[in-house]
Amino acid sequence: MSSVSYIDNIFYLTTKSLSYIFGINQNKKLYHLYFGDKILEKKNISPAVNADYLGYYNNSKIFLPEIVIYDGDEIFENTVKFSFQSGDRIVEYQFDKYEISETENYTLLKIFLKDTLYNLTLILNYKIYFDYDIISRYIEIINSTNDNFIKIENFFSGVLSFPVRNMFVGYLHGKWGHEANLIIEKINYGEKVIQSRTGNSSHFFNPSFFLSDTASPNEDNSSIFFGQIFWNGNWKFVFEKRFYDIITVTGGINNFDTEIHLNPSDKFCTPEFIFGYSDKGLGKMSRTLHDFYRDIIFPVNQQSIVRPIVYNNWEACMFDFDERKLRKLAETAGNIGIELFVLDDGWFGNRNDDTSSLGDWFVNKKRFPSGLKKLISYVKNKGMKFGLWIEPEMINPDSELYKNHSDWCYNFENRERTLMRNQLVLNLTKQEVNEYIKSVLKNIVMNYDVDYIKWDMNRNLSRLGADNLDDAYKKEVWIKHTEAVYELLKYVRSLKPDILIEGCSGGGGRFNGGILRFVDQIWTSDNTDAEARQFIQYGISLFYPAVTISSHVSDSPNGLTGNNINLEFRFNTSMAANFGIEANIDNWNKENIDFAKKKILEYKNIRDIIFYGDMYRINSPYSNDVISVIYVNKTKTNAVLFLFQLNPGDTDRIKIVKLKGLDEKKYYKVNGEKKSGESLMKSGIQVKLQKKYDSRVIIINSL
Ligand code: GLA
Repeated sequence: MSSVSYIDNIFYLTTKSLSYIFGINQNKKLYHLYFGDKILEKKNISPAVNADYLGYYNNSKIFLPEIVIYDGDEIFENTVKFSFQSGDRIVEYQFDKYEISETENYTLLKIFLKDTLYNLTLILNYKIYFDYDIISRYIEIINSTNDNFIKIENFFSGVLSFPVRNMFVGYLHGKWGHEANLIIEKINYGEKVIQSRTGNSSHFFNPSFFLSDTASPNEDNSSIFFGQIFWNGNWKFVFEKRFYDIITVTGGINNFDTEIHLNPSDKFCTPEFIFGYSDKGLGKMSRTLHDFYRDIIFPVNQQSIVRPIVYNNWEACMFDFDERKLRKLAETAGNIGIELFVLDDGWFGNRNDDTSSLGDWFVNKKRFPSGLKKLISYVKNKGMKFGLWIEPEMINPDSELYKNHSDWCYNFENRERTLMRNQLVLNLTKQEVNEYIKSVLKNIVMNYDVDYIKWDMNRNLSRLGADNLDDAYKKEVWIKHTEAVYELLKYVRSLKPDILIEGCSGGGGRFNGGILRFVDQIWTSDNTDAEARQFIQYGISLFYPAVTISSHVSDSPNGLTGNNINLEFRFNTSMAANFGIEANIDNWNKENIDFAKKKILEYKNIRDIIFYGDMYRINSPYSNDVISVIYVNKTKTNAVLFLFQLNPGDTDRIKIVKLKGLDEKKYYKVNGEKKSGESLMKSGIQVKLQKKYDSRVIIINSL
């Protein structure tokens, strides 16, 4: 069944449970009609708002836009804006034709637009993922002129229009060590912007949002629209309440310090703006996105693999380690059931702290006098895989590489190079730089035979001067850098298709759908305090599946926050996501080691449900109640419930938690008792979590 019909100048896009409808008017312009619950009828769709209401512009303008291309009159946000060599800055587009094609996962609708004056082709693309209830939009722009040089000043991926007066927007805001705090606010007159200007998707905002008609949308019933930009560089969402009470959301690559130039026959393609609708609250929104990531976005060969349990030495060692110390850690890691041992920062060059050696990706001889391969074999002989940390885009001025190639980093001539964490950024648009990084990656992946790399990025992009680019293309450098990162990640996967890649940028600075096409999981935050992680992981879980959310048990008191939290709470917090350990396990006493062994075994039995099941949030960390989340496998036969108490001395003692997502008709075993799914969901279970940092993992199996 096709997900697109075209009847009487109206396009009907349909998925399993949503409809998205727009039309072409007598002037051959596109206007938006409807987005929301599925409408089966393909006729009598009345325009949500009548354009005649609008006195402005002699009624000739579109009230609810499907696309806004700057035409010289527009006073609101432009999706696309051009300027031509002639000085003309107007496009008067017209619908030309459309094409529909089918692929395995989606129907692709292409709408071709042309300008009345210049030979310019704009293709609005809609991918309709019927089974996943997701539509994605992106735009291709082709300069089909013979001699005209075209500049693009706005190059968003699309706009969504809503004929409503009031809406609330939810988004994630944060900073280093404190990512993904949920903010919900009313969209008021004017523009509300969330964006990144740091060259990664950033710690400050995540390229994701939801819209709701209430300030407190719930998990199960609220109507929710949502969207994301799949882009690992500078992005921007503009939420605009226009003066005559409609709301638009324009999203795509940020035009901050960026312009695109098209020579004759050049083409530019925006990244995808994916969006969907949930009639069952934030819960269904998350489950829709989780399925979409796992089944469609992840690298194909990685979609359902069991992610190994990682031990990472960073928090245990920082820069203080040698081969002997690592062997001991690896031995303990192997004993407690760890499956992959990761050597983090400090294994290369002369790196003893964060002031030197980025770029010198050869083994640090002081730490490994007889090379790294001995440690790798040791780890592999213990039955574990081996992983390495690398930060390929970066260079320290104190490095061999910089001595030889100080011209390899972004800079503006005669200007100071600004350092962050003592490092500069390599100009990936230079071919020789690219080739160097490729050779480094090849050596690591093939020669050292690593099974995993942690790809880090510990500073912003800034002062992005690239003397190798022609003048006209200099301001495309932000985009070219992101594309180069994608290409390098693809290259790594081409060398070893089943390699596991963990994305990272000082923690969660690069958590986005663009990078998740190439990496398998993401180091969510440098903050491993389990209380802080409750909030961070909750925020991220709104938009991304648990399998992407790397979460490691660290020592207590926490190195960053000083907070003291019991080991069980720390384990359970990480087990509710993609679990690993980075504590100094060699300092653990027998009791802790035995506890770790038991929990790792437990995790191995439940991780499939967490990675590939459905997530139902019951109480959020913002709720002031016992935090509860349940993962249920797709056949509803097995589930795992996590409970966390953050409130001190809750004297209620006994709590009732009503479960979600089970099969009403099935019977389950919970805490040794037999109970129906119906009773577990309607009357709930009693739990006692009296003290701050009490926590439980309750496994629920059908009978
Ligand atoms: C970043 C990462 C950490 C660790 C350090 C190493 O901050 O987020 O996990 O790898 O770099 O320098």
